[in-house]
Amino acid sequence: MTPALNLSRRTMMLAGGGAAAAVTLAACSSPTDAATVPPSSAPTDSGSAAAASPTEIAKLADIPVGGGLAATLDGQPILLAQPTKGTVVAFSAICTHQGCKVKPAATEFDCPCHQSRYDLATGEVLGGPAPRALDKVTVTVDGDTVLAG
Ligand code: FES
Repeated sequence: MTPALNLSRRTMMLAGGGAAAAVTLAACSSPTDAATVPPSSAPTDSGSAAAASPTEIAKLADIPVGGGLAATLDGQPILLAQPTKGTVVAFSAICTHQGCKVKPAATEFDCPCHQSRYDLATGEVLGGPAPRALDKVTVTVDGDTVLAG
C-alpha cells in the first residue's frame, strides 16, 4: 500500500509540475500577445491632448530683448528671457538657495530674500548664496508665441 501511495504522490507531483509549467508557459505568452498591441493606446490619449494644444506661456513681444518676464506654467512660477531677438530661454523661478520666488530685474534675475543673482541667458549664479543655477524649463517659439515644451 505504501509504495502505491508513494507512486501516487510522485505521479501527482509530476502532474502538478506539468500543470505549473503549462501555467508558466501561458503566463509567458500573455505579455508577448500584449506586446503586439500598439503601445500607443494609453499613452497617446494623454500625450495627444498635450501635443494637440501646446500650452502658450507668453507672447514673444512681451519679453524684452535682453530682459526677462515672470510667468507661470502649470501653476508654477517660471522666468522667461529673450537674450537675443527671437531666442527665448526659461527657468524655474524657485531660488536654489531656500526656495524664494526669483524675479526679473533689468538685465538679470534676482532673488529678493538673500540677494542671489542669476544670469538671464543661462540661469547660472552670478552672486549670493544660491548653490546652483536655476532649473531650466523647455520652451519653444512658434511665430510670436512662446510655448511650453
Ligand atoms: Fe533666494 Fe536665499 S532664497 S537667495
